[in-house]
Amino acid sequence: MSDWVVRGGAVLSGTVSVQGSKNAALPILAATLLAEEPIRLLNCPVIRDAENMLKILRSLGCTVRREGDDLIVDSRTASDFVLPTALSGELRSSIFLLGSVLSRFSEADAPYPGGCEIGNRPIDLHLEGLRRLNAVIEERGGRIRCRGGRLRGAVVDLDYPSVGATENIMLAACRAEGRTTVRNAACEPEIVDLQNFLRACGFRVHGAGMPTVVIDGVEQGHGATYRVMPDRIAAGTYMIGAAITGGDVTVTGMQPDAVDTLLYKLSACGCEVTKTADSVRVRARGRARGVAFTETRPYPGFPTDLQPQLFSLLSVADGNSVLVENVFENRFRHAQELKRMDAKNRILDRTAIITGVERLHGAEVIAHDLRGGAALVLAGLSAEGETVIRHAERIERGYERMDSVIGRLGGSVIRKEDGIDQEEKTQ
Ligand code: UD1
Repeated sequence: MSDWVVRGGAVLSGTVSVQGSKNAALPILAATLLAEEPIRLLNCPVIRDAENMLKILRSLGCTVRREGDDLIVDSRTASDFVLPTALSGELRSSIFLLGSVLSRFSEADAPYPGGCEIGNRPIDLHLEGLRRLNAVIEERGGRIRCRGGRLRGAVVDLDYPSVGATENIMLAACRAEGRTTVRNAACEPEIVDLQNFLRACGFRVHGAGMPTVVIDGVEQGHGATYRVMPDRIAAGTYMIGAAITGGDVTVTGMQPDAVDTLLYKLSACGCEVTKTADSVRVRARGRARGVAFTETRPYPGFPTDLQPQLFSLLSVADGNSVLVENVFENRFRHAQELKRMDAKNRILDRTAIITGVERLHGAEVIAHDLRGGAALVLAGLSAEGETVIRHAERIERGYERMDSVIGRLGGSVIRKEDGIDQEEKTQ
């Protein structure tokens, strides 16, 4: 267990280059199994979720090594189709391995996946999609067993544009016989990144980023060198950091268009937002203004993964704001924690009504999930006094050294592992 101590009263300013994308890297790591030749990944983030995915790949027999900042995954040695229970239980994205393991070995055996507790997260759309491709799936004793021979292409109509299900079906379809068409597919930029990776490996995929994705199966892929896209959620988090602390932050090495909906909100809050081709500067102009209405939606709507961080900002904005969470049914656990810091909010089902206060006050709070934890860091930076965030290891699932990034911008976050100051430990 890790506690983070956040010192309040910071004004974040400066330039940061954003990490590689967690949500792009995880399905790409799963996809390395399909190529059967070494893959060199650049810009793969060093975060707990990616480390867990690599541990699972190793347990399946893949060889994984780092060369400087590059990560090399060689799946030629992979031999196992049984996913380890404990590791997969910690990582929801282990579900992506179902499609790629099944495609590679004609068989897969996986426990139900874990991940953030942000609501009941079923995998029915994943399983239904794989069944459409002719996999035989049995769910028994907390495990999922799939068998398939060579999968067969099909039309898959998703009831909901699930990001994970779209990606899993794409992975399973790459080596299937014939054409697979995914309709009502999710359109997130990370799906485009997965498509770009798969193409670099010789697979035939097109349409990602739009609601219909078409995959023409080929027998085998090949090795590739690929740069993972920048993380739009981490970028957005640091931009909100500028707004909430009255600061001035430039995030570089990113894709500004992928966070347009956030940029509109930051402008509506009164921030000055300047975009270039690969950077965004957010300059606060005094206290943020409340925003009448924001609701989360699948891309290109406002991302659910930035809802908690926006929640923190609106908690100190001038006026009332309404935030509706449409994607996950239980993603307001940070609301209660923010109240410990003297925030004012009311939750009615999927709607939060937030009345901005002049100042939050440091308190002891719990990071219930990854993005909720990041929201508490931002709140702590803007608060008076010190905030102690319990279970901050959950933040490390998706942010690469957030404490150092914030330190470089002039804020102070100290990580304590089992009560030991990590800075002292390294000295
Ligand atoms: C991905 C992201 C996550 C983000 C989410 C929504 C990764 C590794 N994670 O998660 O950060 O918050 O997209 O943008 O990319 N659902 C079903 N049945 C299914 C699958 C999903 O009912 O089989 C529901 C979920 O419970 C949820 C909604 O669909 O309410 C969206 O989930 P989905 O788009 O699948 O999110 P993930 O892929 O899990």
